[in-house]
Amino acid sequence: MASSINPRAANYLCSFVCLTCESAVNPTALCTTCPNCGGNLDARYHYDRISRDISPIEVTSSRDRSLWHYGPFLPCSPPSSARHTPLGDVGWSPLYRAYDLETRFNVRALWLKADSMLPSSSFKDRASAMVIAQANALGIGTIVVASTGNAAAALATLCAGTTIRAVIFVPMDTPEGKLAQILINGATVYRVRGTYADCVRLAREAAEQFGWYNRTTGVNPYTREGKKTAGFEIAEQLGEDGVFRAPDVVVVPVGDGNIISGVHKGFAELKHVGWIEEVPRFIGVTATRASSLFDAWKRGDEKPILTASTTIASGISVDFPEDAVAALRAVRSSGGIFIEAQDDELLSDMALLARSTGVFVEPSSAAALTGLRHALDSGTIRHTDQVVLQMTGHGLKDPRSALKAASPPRDIYSLNDMANFG
Ligand SMILES: Cc1ncc(COP(=O)(O)O)c(C=O)c1O
Ligand SMILES: [Zn+2]
Repeated sequence: MASSINPRAANYLCSFVCLTCESAVNPTALCTTCPNCGGNLDARYHYDRISRDISPIEVTSSRDRSLWHYGPFLPCSPPSSARHTPLGDVGWSPLYRAYDLETRFNVRALWLKADSMLPSSSFKDRASAMVIAQANALGIGTIVVASTGNAAAALATLCAGTTIRAVIFVPMDTPEGKLAQILINGATVYRVRGTYADCVRLAREAAEQFGWYNRTTGVNPYTREGKKTAGFEIAEQLGEDGVFRAPDVVVVPVGDGNIISGVHKGFAELKHVGWIEEVPRFIGVTATRASSLFDAWKRGDEKPILTASTTIASGISVDFPEDAVAALRAVRSSGGIFIEAQDDELLSDMALLARSTGVFVEPSSAAALTGLRHALDSGTIRHTDQVVLQMTGHGLKDPRSALKAASPPRDIYSLNDMANFG
């Protein structure tokens, strides 16, 4: 499991900085946010030393196909075997070229970064793996998370068969597929009669009262460190030996805003060390009925306003985005935009994506394709652009939505009945 460059993990970590008040603070087991203002923290590295000590070929020639492949850019080392999932290391999801969609939308190149293929079938494995590694370093045995479903499923999956206990707070309307996944993996599950924002509050209180480590998205800075590895992978998969290459645009579904800030950070760090020239433009896609990040971006604000969410896209159904500051900066600094997508568009794009590529994702994830469509219409994505759509969660997590999106089956008694369907 160990890669040739794993021993360098954590060697280049410089400090953690509050994204709101800019104080340098070290997150601790009990406090993962800024003690001065409550802002989210961000890890910074000695990029000058990384570019002096490590060559891109050293990374690309590593045979470790996991997020530990990027050890020099990571804040901690893999967990000990007792705390390491038997499923192996997480990461290195496929990057599929979507030729059919490329032709349909007339873009120069279109890829799907399929994190729906990770062990728990969502992007959230990257964050959970990194938080588990840090819990191991801190010697903590219980991790708590507030989740709309996927972060909890990732934590439950990666804690199964280890000595770490996963405690979960999810809202009542968590889709069955996600709930089943969390429960079957043996996590302790509290279903909260309230919203995701209520789950976030309860997870914070439980962490404080019981001394548990809080994995909640964005609130724990290690989540962004895990998620940024998708950016590294995309650039490595688009490049060749020893050469990283960035696409022009990356489109990302947005709930708390931690995936988009993470993937953006991956590219920004590759630029810091001189391995790519430009960071791609980032397009964040919220659901229309969970749009507080889109609204904040439109108003030109640094912070969102709590807005009740009612979308069918459970993964991005967030009233108050926990990583808003980082997400808004990622989109603005890259020259990107936010887009909002209607629920019926998410369903039809979910079906289009599956029919034209075989990639079956949940509605939250299909938001990336809806974002592409809108951004082409508005000219934010040009037909000459090379585009990556971030696929974030598998369709089987929410089969009810899939059944709404697909044509119904043709129910028959005998072959003669086939004529009824034309
Ligand atoms: C399938 C899916 N897509 C996108 C997201 C959004 O990620 P973030 O909350 O980091 O913005 C989530 C979050 O749960 C998700 O489950
Ligand atoms: Zn602060």
